[in-house]
Amino acid sequence: MKNILVTGASGQLGQSLRQRCLAFPEMTLQFYTRQDFDLEQPDQMSRVLDEQNPSVVLNTAAYTAVDTAENEPDRAFAINTLGVRNLAELCAARDITLLHVSTDYVFNGKANQPYLEAHPTAPLGIYGQSKLQGEQAVEEINPAHYIVRTSWLYGPYGHNFLKTMLKLADQGKSLTITTEQTGSPTSTLDLADALLGLLEKQAPYGTYHFSNRGQTTWYGFAKEIFKQTHQLEGVKLAETAEYPTFAKRPKYSVLDTNKIEQTLQQPIRSWQEALAEVIHQI
Ligand SMILES: NC(=O)c1ccc[n+]([C@@H]2O[C@H](COP(=O)([O-])OP(=O)(O)OC[C@H]3O[C@@H](n4cnc5c(N)ncnc54)[C@H](OP(=O)(O)O)[C@@H]3O)[C@@H](O)[C@H]2O)c1
Repeated sequence: MKNILVTGASGQLGQSLRQRCLAFPEMTLQFYTRQDFDLEQPDQMSRVLDEQNPSVVLNTAAYTAVDTAENEPDRAFAINTLGVRNLAELCAARDITLLHVSTDYVFNGKANQPYLEAHPTAPLGIYGQSKLQGEQAVEEINPAHYIVRTSWLYGPYGHNFLKTMLKLADQGKSLTITTEQTGSPTSTLDLADALLGLLEKQAPYGTYHFSNRGQTTWYGFAKEIFKQTHQLEGVKLAETAEYPTFAKRPKYSVLDTNKIEQTLQQPIRSWQEALAEVIHQI
């Protein structure tokens, strides 16, 4: 029986794990929000780990505000780098496996084919840099680790692009969405299954990429959302090549997912199929 401590329990992925863990009865998951397990409070983390004695920590907690990070790099590094470094040290000292979730934003987006796990990293902004340094700390400190990079997360919980699109369409707003970036929208439900699958299978430690199959732009994602919710006719949707944001984002961040598919021996479904399930749940 695996005893798994999940951090970031009130985030999109944390809540999706709570839903999906019901299909993994051989694992016990305990969920911790920032209040009870704060990456910036090593003493608190240490106390909880001693009390709960988990075999795995699944770290979904992160500073995720990509644009705001440019103005408050100290916050981003304090959580995504130093906090993760402290967590890795606490886990290593107790022989706890650390499954850490990371991002496609560790890449610079100059590739033109899906990124393999070993592709050189070169983040464009503070968020990506802070997440990359977190990954490096995990690798350096705790050999018993998984790093799972993912992309363009959305799901039934928390804030995300899907929910924003549905809300703005509801309000009758005109939507101009960028075609400038290409990536793979990824359901937090499918990611949750894959993370628990890695632990269930006791997969070899290391770095993995997980995203739903296929690729699109944010505009293509919006169009599919409105197609699947039968609003394509009514909604005022336009595309733009330019969409200046505060933080630079990779133009292309499709992840190669062959390694995790082979490891889990399960094909990943397309982003459109995954989207249909989330829309159904919402
Ligand atoms: N969202 C994406 O598109 C995306 C894409 C690629 C990778 N990722 C990665 O995927 C993971 C999950 O992302 P998500 O979308 O689920 O993020 P999310 O919805 O923003 O949730 C992150 C959670 O982390 C918590 N948190 C923030 N600072 C913390 C701290 N110091 N200590 C403990 N908890 C803290 C937040 O707590 P509060 O609720 O109290 O703020 C929040 O519940 C993250 O590692 C993220 O970097 C996300």
